[in-house]
Formats: sequence, C-alpha cells, structure tokens
Amino acid sequence: MTKKTLQKVIANMRNDRILVTMKKYLALTCSLALGLSSPALAEDMDKMWNTGEETIKLRAKDAKRGQLFDEGNYAMFIHWGLYSLLGNKVDGKTYYGIGEWIMNPRVANIPPEEYKKLAGQFDPTNFDAKEIVQLAKDAGMKYIVITAKHHDGFAMYDSKCNDFNITKATPWKTDPMKDLVKECEAAGIGFGFYYSHNQDWTYPGGMGGPTTDAEGNPKTFDDYFKEKCLPQVEEITTEYGKIELVWFDTPGKMEKKYVEQLVEVVRKNQPDALVSGRAGHNLGDYQSLGDMEVPHKNVEGMWEAVDTTNDSWAYAWYDEYWKTPKEILKRTIACVGRGGTYMFNIGPESDGSVPERAKTILRESGNWIKKHPNVIYNAGASPYGHALPWGDVTVQGNTLQLCVLEWPTTGKLYLPGLENTVQSIKVMTDAGLTELSFEKQGTAIVIDVPYKAPDDLISVIRVEVDGEPKADKTYALDPSLKTTVLADFAKGEGKVKYKEKRWMEKFGEWKVAHIFTQWGDDGKAVFDVEVLVPGEYNASLSYTGEGRLVWGVEVEGGEKIQNQQNSSHNFQEFPIGWLNFPKAGKYKVKVSCLEEGKDKAALNALHLAPMILQK
Ligand code: GLC
Repeated sequence: MTKKTLQKVIANMRNDRILVTMKKYLALTCSLALGLSSPALAEDMDKMWNTGEETIKLRAKDAKRGQLFDEGNYAMFIHWGLYSLLGNKVDGKTYYGIGEWIMNPRVANIPPEEYKKLAGQFDPTNFDAKEIVQLAKDAGMKYIVITAKHHDGFAMYDSKCNDFNITKATPWKTDPMKDLVKECEAAGIGFGFYYSHNQDWTYPGGMGGPTTDAEGNPKTFDDYFKEKCLPQVEEITTEYGKIELVWFDTPGKMEKKYVEQLVEVVRKNQPDALVSGRAGHNLGDYQSLGDMEVPHKNVEGMWEAVDTTNDSWAYAWYDEYWKTPKEILKRTIACVGRGGTYMFNIGPESDGSVPERAKTILRESGNWIKKHPNVIYNAGASPYGHALPWGDVTVQGNTLQLCVLEWPTTGKLYLPGLENTVQSIKVMTDAGLTELSFEKQGTAIVIDVPYKAPDDLISVIRVEVDGEPKADKTYALDPSLKTTVLADFAKGEGKVKYKEKRWMEKFGEWKVAHIFTQWGDDGKAVFDVEVLVPGEYNASLSYTGEGRLVWGVEVEGGEKIQNQQNSSHNFQEFPIGWLNFPKAGKYKVKVSCLEEGKDKAALNALHLAPMILQK
C-alpha cells in the first residue's frame, strides 16, 4: 500500500472518528439523560474468556481426540489480519498494546466503515506459506492455529457467505489458508483455525459491532449468528481438509444455544478436532488459561497456555521486546512440567513477512528442542508440582528430566524429596550421555556435576528411578541458590484474604499473580519449607502496597524477625532479614503484616537465600 493512500484512508478515519466520537458522546448523554442504560460497554476482556469455568478435562487418550495437542505440547499461534496493516499506528499516533484491537473504541476507535476500507490496501505479496510452516517446524512446533476471523470481522480466507474477506475485498485476491494447509500437510504439521465467534465489530449484530445494517434496520446477534458466524464455521471446517483445532475466543455472555450449534458443526465436520476451552459454557474439549499465563502449579487434565513472542499478538511496529530463546524454553518446559501445552504466537507484518527477530528466537529455541525432544514431546508433568530453584522437571516413563537453568557453581546439584530409588544419573553433553556420581544427604540426592554447564541455554540431567517418579511437593531450600516460594503455595491463617490478581501492563498485555492481602491483626501466610542444609538464610518478601510497611517473618517454634520497608505499585522484593534454621527438616515460616497499610499490602512471594550454612 502506498504511504500516501494509507494516510488518506487514515485521515478519513480521523474525521469520521471525531464525528463518531461526538455521536457516541451525544448518544451516551441523551440516553443517560433519558434514564436509559448507557450503550453496552465492552465487558472486562479477561471476563470474556470464561476461564472461570475451570473443569478438569479429559486427557486426549481418554477423549479420542487431540493426540497432537496432548503429545506435541508445543504449537504456533498466528495473528495476522487487516490490523497488521496499521501495526498500532493510526494517523501518526501509536497505540501501545495488543494490535488486533486497534479499531476498538477502547483503542483507536476507528469507525467500522472506515476500517473496512483498509481491505483495499491489504496486499501481502511477501506471504510465504512454505517459509512459515518451515519456521514452525524449525521451532519444534507440532501444529499451527491461525486467525480465520478475528474480532474485527475480516475473514483471512475465501469466505463465500460474506465478502469482507481476503480474496474478495483485497487487491491480493488470494486465500493464504489454501497454501498453508497444503504446506502443513507436506511437513506433517497440524493445522487449526482461530475464530472469534462472539465478537464481530464490523458486522451488524455481532457483539461489539453495529446494531443496524447499512439501511438502518436493527440487527440482532441472532442475525449475525445465522448470516455470518455459523456459515463461516461451516466453511472453515469443510473447505480446508483435516483440522486439528478450532480456537473459539472470548465467548463473553454468548448464549449456550449458539455455542452448542458451533460445537455441533465442528463435531460433524471434524470429529477428531479439538474445540478450544474458550468456546464458552464449558463446551470446549480442554481448559484454555488466561492470556500470557504460564501456571505455577500443576493443572489437571488437558489444558493450554497461550503466549506471544513479544507483548502483542498482532504485529505492532514498536514492539521489539522479544522473549529470549532461554525464556521461550523456560516457559515451554514449565507448561509441559505443569502438565499442559504451550501455544506460542507470531504476528506477521501486513506484507505477510515474519519479523526477523521472531524467526531467530524460534529457531534458536527450536535447535535446543531438537537436541532434547523427550523433554517436550509426550513428556509428563513434574512430580514436584512446581518448578525448582535451579529449573524445572518433566518426566518420560521412569526418568526425570532435570532442566537446569541456573547451573550450580559449587559442583553440587541438590535434587530434593525424591521418593524413589535412583538407578542412574546422566547428563547430556556434546560427547553424549555422561554418568554422574551422586549421594543421598538426608532427603536430598546430591549430584556431582561438572563446573561448566554442558549446554549454554538449558542443561538436561536424566535421573532414572525404580518406577513412576514420586516426590515430596514441599518447597526445599536450595543450599546454593535463592528459593522463591509463591503465595500460590502458602496457606492463610487468621484474618487474611488469598486472591488472584489479574491486570494489564499495556492494553491487552495480561499478567496474573496470587496474593495475600487485607491483613487482620492475626492474619498470617504460612509457607511450608524443607531445609536441606541448616544455617542462616536471608528472608525477603515480594509485595505491593502503599507507604512503608512492617512485616513479621517467624519460624514456627523458632526465631521471629520483623522489619520496616517501603512498598511499590509493582511487585518488588524487599529484604526483611536473616533467619536461623538450626537443623535440616521441615519448618513453617509465617509471614504477617504489622502496623499501618495492612489492608492494601499484597504479598506475592517469600524468598529464602542461603547466607552462612553449617559445614
Ligand atoms: C484475547 C484477545 C484476542 C487475542 C486472544 C489470544 O482474547 O481479545 O485479541 O486473539 O486473547 O489469546
């Protein structure tokens, strides 16, 4: 698209946007003045995912569908559409946040008729299906899920039932999905569609869309559903061969009867395809977690975390904050270690090209997965139920795969609380598998490891045991690294409230944390820990709050300390002081918030770092 043309289209948007904003303001003022309810405002986005419907879902072997999901454990998400043309910049102004929401009133508030004109400029001549599928393969991803229609209503495939699509409305006149499915089939990569079934901001009657058609006739959700949504789901499940997954999104308050009809269409046309957990009314085949959420605790049943290479799903011109290959692997291993699947997103530019850095980080992390396929594919959850101070664990049969991100400098790696008998311990080096010596010290296995980490990203130690791996889930304090115990693993005592806190950094960039807050005088957060090596440990706390706070940290039956520290709007770690653990074994560490600011103080984690330990 020429810059001049786009600017002309955008300039029109600006004028119309001002007009539309005035109309909306006028409508709002009038309706409020008349005592009518204000026009429907977008629900809280995270409430639209319906993640509250947490139900343990079957694993694929029981459900007879989703083997690639359940065994592959790692997939490519692709967000690509008209919004990629704007890349978060409209009329010279940059909007920070997830790019696919750019037209929404909460972002650039582009009038639907103006937004639709973008299709005339969409000409992705650099789109290369073969290259994208090869990138997924190089990354070690087992299937691809791509936006067929996002909330903006533009179909990225050749839809027969609605002309607002990539073949009818653009100069490119090509259906990229035809090539993608062909390349996926040739490469042995699964293929699935993302479809926003509830929100449609440009089709009359769609949730968040116009409430009348071009002639001013009122349109309902039922009209949208029958005229566009249902026929399009029929199209994407019949015209593109075998589909692995239909990823419905943001069901919000969509009525169950509609979701049931869509699921029925998927079952009829694609009996082996999974329906995402965000279908609504708990009608999905598995649980979809909230955006960008990698869980800290093992999650039962089939589930998926979705995340993105930077901070936006769709291409955003400014967003150069890429996850490193090590971070990608850490999050992928964490999802497998908690028992689930990780779907990781790229946002191609409007010309169809994939940002170079996205390709680099996917290929580098993919090279590691090629060296350690068993860590990811068909791997089971960690018997510890959570990550460990030096890394994480996934399981293959009776072998624990220790994924070490913080290689010890002491030549000793502590594996706590294993309830099996160890048969062998080996490390993968360039020279192949090397046997490691080890000894039992109390409840820990102490492994003699080389001083240099065998792998510059993540080193893998394989511990073969005498049966299904079992472990004590208590957090053991590592004698050479700081151990962080999140509030997720503590229990409340007395008056204190445990809750989930979910928030956006930039628009649509979601974070989630669990906290103890609203402290009463007797309120305590109780952390169970196992001391492997007795001695002095420094206690620090991560929390948010207002003003200076006084925290108490006590070892049940032992030392109690308190200290005053400042607080911050973001979770920040502050030192409290040293605590003595006189002998190895289990302890309860109790945290309380004293004096002022107790109501807003929100504790997210206790950290215990070795200071002076008994020899
Ligand atoms: C949220 C956003 C949507 C994005 C999806 C990815 O639902 O609304 O834009 O496609 O998350 O998981």
